[in-house]
Amino acid sequence: MTPDPKAETIDWFAARPGEVAVDLPAQFDAGLYFIGRIRTPWTKREDCPKNAGESDAVCTIEVDPRYAKALDKVETCTHLIILYWMDRARRDLVVQTPRHYGEGRGSFALRSPVRPNPIALSVVQLLKVEGTTLSVKNIDCLDNTPLLDIKPYFASVDSKPDAQVGWHRDRNKG
Ligand SMILES: C[S@@+](CC[C@H](N)C(=O)[O-])C[C@H]1O[C@@H](n2cnc3c(N)ncnc32)[C@H](O)[C@@H]1O
Repeated sequence: MTPDPKAETIDWFAARPGEVAVDLPAQFDAGLYFIGRIRTPWTKREDCPKNAGESDAVCTIEVDPRYAKALDKVETCTHLIILYWMDRARRDLVVQTPRHYGEGRGSFALRSPVRPNPIALSVVQLLKVEGTTLSVKNIDCLDNTPLLDIKPYFASVDSKPDAQVGWHRDRNKG
């Protein structure tokens, strides 16, 4: 297909005005094991949901079979916390300008994948477990994103219905 010359070309990795990058440390402090991969319908960032609640698409989490025994009783959970590695994100920005807000925010006040350790999380609804494959809803990552961890979501301790993000709540106030 011929690209539309008038279409907006987005360089997802370029810094926007007001964004601040730092030099990252020369060495890592720890190692990680990727324990599987997350398979989703999205291969491009512009198609990917911006947060886990935005999509109802059924996605699959393929856990490395060596960890099969670690999935024992996972099928009894309705919801899981999924931690994953945003492998296509830059890591050096400490101030970012979210596309729809136009004003810089500290990376640790954002859910952006761009952060020194590009770890993301979603609370997913578990639909089915077949062997080492989990079918889930409510996840927001690109296809083949590396999986870091799976934990049960305990509504009794993890749910904080009164929590607020002040800058987000106040974003349209004059
Ligand atoms: C705003 S983040 C939210 C991530 C997660 N729910 C969280 O709160 O930690 C979701 C966005 O990250 C981007 N993204 C998804 N998978 C990625 C990957 N593997 N590497 C880099 N960026 C990714 C997509 O643009 C997606 O819309």
